Amino acid sequence: MSEKIMDGKVIAAEMREELKKRLAPLKEKGVMPGLGVVLVGDDPASRSYVTAKERACQDVGIHSQEIRLDAPAPLEEILDAVRGYNRDPDIHGILVQLPLPDARMEAEVIAAIDPDKDVDGFHPVNIGRMILGLPAFLPCTPHGVLQMLKRAGQSPNGRHVVIIGRSNIVGRPLANLLTLKNELGNATVTLCHTGTGDLAHHTRQADIIVAAAGRPHTVTADMVRDGAVVVDVGVNRVDDASRPRGYRLVGDVDFDGVFDKVSAITPVPGGVGPMTITMLLYNTVEAAERKQQQG
Ligand code: GUN
Repeated sequence: MSEKIMDGKVIAAEMREELKKRLAPLKEKGVMPGLGVVLVGDDPASRSYVTAKERACQDVGIHSQEIRLDAPAPLEEILDAVRGYNRDPDIHGILVQLPLPDARMEAEVIAAIDPDKDVDGFHPVNIGRMILGLPAFLPCTPHGVLQMLKRAGQSPNGRHVVIIGRSNIVGRPLANLLTLKNELGNATVTLCHTGTGDLAHHTRQADIIVAAAGRPHTVTADMVRDGAVVVDVGVNRVDDASRPRGYRLVGDVDFDGVFDKVSAITPVPGGVGPMTITMLLYNTVEAAERKQQQG
């Protein structure tokens, strides 16, 4: 693989080995970290993300269980699933796969999760703590991006990072984390979005571009300065009759177009995706350790 490629599978595997070592002392005390998943409806992309997360749990030795609800599920049914996990001493982390079929329910469902079990880092308590730089469960994709940059030798410290996309899951938490004065952050940040007038003007100033727009070909060669680092958070399904499933996954970046200009880039698939899942495992192990320490 080209030296320019930041390989998420390799970095994630390294982090998963570190996690396995942290499981041993827990096991000695009879604790096995447990993840409780709630999946509502049968969206194929959500289904496949949840399967990947559950497989990853199995791989490192985390127990996972799933509550699957048919859409349209009443709010109370989803809240009951969350509350059951809140009470369950064998469940240390809770994940409600988003989007919910009815997006209007999301805020209330997330708020019902015990913040000490919020391994997605989506609860307002954890978001507030994150912004203040206090100990918190960090949202998995932004944290995965930061771990990847650090471990690939591309620290954002002192550099200008231009983020495209202002979602609550990626763009906005990532912008906040990058501004913190610590070993993962200390960057200058520009957060671009659909209201940004001249996107290319901003991306051309970037030392590091993070594309999280959810749209293929959002970043093309003319938007990237020579030597920039490009992180592609996009996971878009595009029709492809030559593939057995009838589609392939592409990111938000024109990978082939920008490749000769960049100094480092993440592929899709195999870039940020494995890191996101690994940070969920990381938070779940952390949740179990915290619970164990509290007794
Ligand atoms: N949907 C897309 N990304 C995520 C994620 O990181 N966590 C959850 N729960 N749902 C998602």
